[in-house]
Amino acid sequence: MNIFAETERLILRELVPTDIEGMFELDSNPEVHKYLGNKPVKSREDAEKAIQYIRDQYKDRGIGRWAAIEKSSGYFIGWSGLKLNIGEKESLNGKQDFYDIGYRFIPRCWGKGYATESALVALDYGFKVKQYETITGIALIGNIGSNKVLRKIGLNYIEDFDCDGTRASWYELNIKDYAKKMS
Ligand SMILES: CC(C)(COP(=O)(O)OP(=O)(O)OC[C@H]1O[C@@H](n2cnc3c(N)ncnc32)[C@H](O)[C@@H]1OP(=O)(O)O)[C@@H](O)C(=O)NCCC(=O)NCCS
Repeated sequence: MNIFAETERLILRELVPTDIEGMFELDSNPEVHKYLGNKPVKSREDAEKAIQYIRDQYKDRGIGRWAAIEKSSGYFIGWSGLKLNIGEKESLNGKQDFYDIGYRFIPRCWGKGYATESALVALDYGFKVKQYETITGIALIGNIGSNKVLRKIGLNYIEDFDCDGTRASWYELNIKDYAKKMS
C-alpha cells in the first residue's frame, strides 16, 4: 500500500477498497455534509464508488485525496490532500483545471488540528514533489473551520464567489510565494 506522507500523528496513504466502512461512516454523516451540499450518502455502494473515483484519479490525474490514518488508534479517520479538478463539469468560480486542497474527517476527530496537520504536508507535497504552479482552496463562507485551516496553512484569500447558490471563498498560493514563505 502506497504511503504518500507521514506527520507526527497521521499516516497519509492511498485510499483502498477496504476503507469502505470508514468512508461510509464519514460520508453518511449529515454533520460532515453540512457545508458540502447536504447530500450525505445512503449506501455502502456510494462509499465504494467514492473510493473507486479517487483511485481512478491517482491513475488518470496523477494525484488524488489521501486516506488519513490516526497513528495512536490505527483507525481510518477521513481523508485529506489534493485533487485536480478537470474541465467544465468540475469548474468552480469560472475556473477549470486547478489543484484543490481539501480534507474531510469523522466528527469525533475534529478540533484536534488534524486538518491543519495533514493539509500542510499535502501542500508541501504539491509544491515540492509535484512542482504544481498553484494550489487552490475553496470553502463555503459558513464553514468557519475550513476557512481557518486554509488561512492557517498559508493560502491567500482571493475573493468570494457564488458556489451553486451559496457564497464561498476562494484562496490560492503559488509555488514562488510558497518558496518565499518557507525560506
Ligand atoms: C473542516 C474540518 C476539516 C476541520 O477539521 P479540524 O481537524 O477540526 O481542523 P483543525 O483542528 O485543524 O482546526 C483549525 C482551526 O480551525 C478551528 N475550527 C475548526 N472547526 C471549527 C468550527 N467548526 N468553528 C470554529 N472554528 C473551528 C480550530 O479551532 C482551529 O483554530 P485555531 O488554530 O485557532 O485553534 C472538519 O470540521 C471537517 O471534516 N468538516 C466536514 C467536512 C468539511 O467541511 N470539509 C471542508 C470542506 S471545504
